[in-house]
Amino acid sequence: MTTESTISRDEYEAVEIECRAALHTAVAKIENVYEFSKRSAEHNPFSAISSRIKTFESATEKCKRKNYSSFRELHDIAGVRIITPFRSDIYAVVEILHRIPGINIFSEKDYVEKPKPNGYSSYHIGAQVEIFSPSTGGTKLVPVEIQIRTKIMDAWATAEHTLKYKNDNPPAPAEAELKRGAELLSELEDILERLHQYDTDTDTD
Ligand code: GTP
Ligand code: MG
Repeated sequence: MTTESTISRDEYEAVEIECRAALHTAVAKIENVYEFSKRSAEHNPFSAISSRIKTFESATEKCKRKNYSSFRELHDIAGVRIITPFRSDIYAVVEILHRIPGINIFSEKDYVEKPKPNGYSSYHIGAQVEIFSPSTGGTKLVPVEIQIRTKIMDAWATAEHTLKYKNDNPPAPAEAELKRGAELLSELEDILERLHQYDTDTDTD
């Protein structure tokens, strides 16, 4: 059976407005928690929160690559990225996200515990967020992808993305170098994590 493709500028606009509403809601909820954490005497597991809506061009390219017939099959048109100071903070943030009402987690991928073969490391959450949809007069659940990673993981992913963007087929030596880089950064994360744990354990405040 073949499904007729609905991929068009019109479909994108219909999906985008819903994703934007869900993204606003998700970001507001996460930023509220961040505000509480900033004022707490406890260590703050958040460094920064950013968000973006996937562009029409990028969403179209991804649908073609994945053989999707609708933008509704994409779960990352709305994307939130949370950056943490240390690796253990990623899991603290994940626990917090599980407790936020209205952020309904349906999938989790732990590329921190088990990085991708290329060295990519990050924690990915798929969540549904409820919005009001004037077109139906009712509510709707819209997917939002939340990526949680340390500053170091983010630096690697950004560099790798830029290099891949410029060169679709990076030569094997470049891939090996990137992987080696990811391993070195992971060692650095280990050191920082130990120092952080030591600092937390000896904190008498
Ligand atoms: P998608 O449909 O592409 O989301 O497939 P998936 O669900 O199998 O992918 P995954 O959840 O693993 O990755 C989704 C997002 O994570 C991507 O859109 C990127 O933002 C990021 N990502 C995944 N792998 C890499 C990678 O190797 N390098 C970089 N820089 N980012 C990645
Ligand atoms: Mg994904």
